[in-house]
Amino acid sequence: MKFFKKGDKDTEKTNPSGKSHPELKVISGSEISGKRNQQQPPQQTTPQQNITLPNIKYKIAVASGKGGVGKSTVATNLAISLAQAGAAVGLMDADAYGPSIPTMMGIKDKPQTTPQRKLLPLVRHNIKLMSIGFMVPEEQAMIWRGPMLHSAIRQFLTDVEWEELNYLIIDLPPGTGDVALTLSQAIPLTGAVIVTTPQDVALADVRRGVAMFERLGVPILGIIENMSYFLCPHCNEKTEIFRSDGGKNMSERFNVALLGQIPLDAEVCTAGDIGVPIVAGHPDSPQTAAFAGVAAELDKVLQESGDDELTIL
Ligand SMILES: Nc1ncnc2c1ncn2[C@@H]1O[C@H](COP(=O)(O)OP(=O)(O)OP(=O)(O)O)[C@@H](O)[C@H]1O
Ligand SMILES: [Mg+2]
Repeated sequence: MKFFKKGDKDTEKTNPSGKSHPELKVISGSEISGKRNQQQPPQQTTPQQNITLPNIKYKIAVASGKGGVGKSTVATNLAISLAQAGAAVGLMDADAYGPSIPTMMGIKDKPQTTPQRKLLPLVRHNIKLMSIGFMVPEEQAMIWRGPMLHSAIRQFLTDVEWEELNYLIIDLPPGTGDVALTLSQAIPLTGAVIVTTPQDVALADVRRGVAMFERLGVPILGIIENMSYFLCPHCNEKTEIFRSDGGKNMSERFNVALLGQIPLDAEVCTAGDIGVPIVAGHPDSPQTAAFAGVAAELDKVLQESGDDELTIL
């Protein structure tokens, strides 16, 4: 995987109209892992990206190829870990169908509006938060059509007073779809991190996630393996419930960094349910250390890349 600066001539010649977005197409594993057919490189897009968010240094999507692998849990705890390390952090819940951030952060309030009709993010654990869940009653079924979803996401980017941030972490809904497309068209995403579980069967899901972002021209910053092993609460012994090192093998296969492995742990789950994420509620726990390790690795990947805005070849 090769990073290079926006503005390099190779990036600019793709999608010269800058208007339409090609349909997502399935591409083969060898294309994803870098062994592309030299004569017929896959089409790549340069999305519109007309919202620049100059005050936000890194805009990072947390995604996966499928649901329930722990994206929201990882996004929440990663955001708090980055803040604990001294960064200014925002967390945007872009899951219109099942927003989890209000519950995980223990928030029932609604955001205030400024006289200029801007939305003020809510603040918990030193994180600025915005979620579609703040706007609609919890029990209300959310049926979003594409254009509504598109404008809700754009509103979160343009009408929210995020102010200066080092990181905006964006929690995506499961799968590959509308939200990722809207986001990558609207803003220059710094990159995406893919959350997965360690089983072999997750490989196809990771491949789908990686393929989607490659087609959108968004760099994959790394893979986070969640529910990696069981940590005994009594003796701290590790038990690998699923096949070990699936995430590591995947990161090697896709040639991206493994940002860390998070244990499967009842406390992580309970902490999310009661609205005090583990990293905030148990700062000295081994689970918190695992999330802090992911935050440090992510920061390292970003520092090593050396650019504020990256794209992928
Ligand atoms: N490391 C972990 N240990 C124990 N439970 C976990 C862990 N990570 C996530 N969970 C639990 O698994 C469930 C799913 O997690 P979460 O909602 O974060 O997944 P998701 O990928 O965001 O789901 P969705 O695709 O529906 O948005 C939650 O109940 C959460 O508390
Ligand atoms: Mg989620």
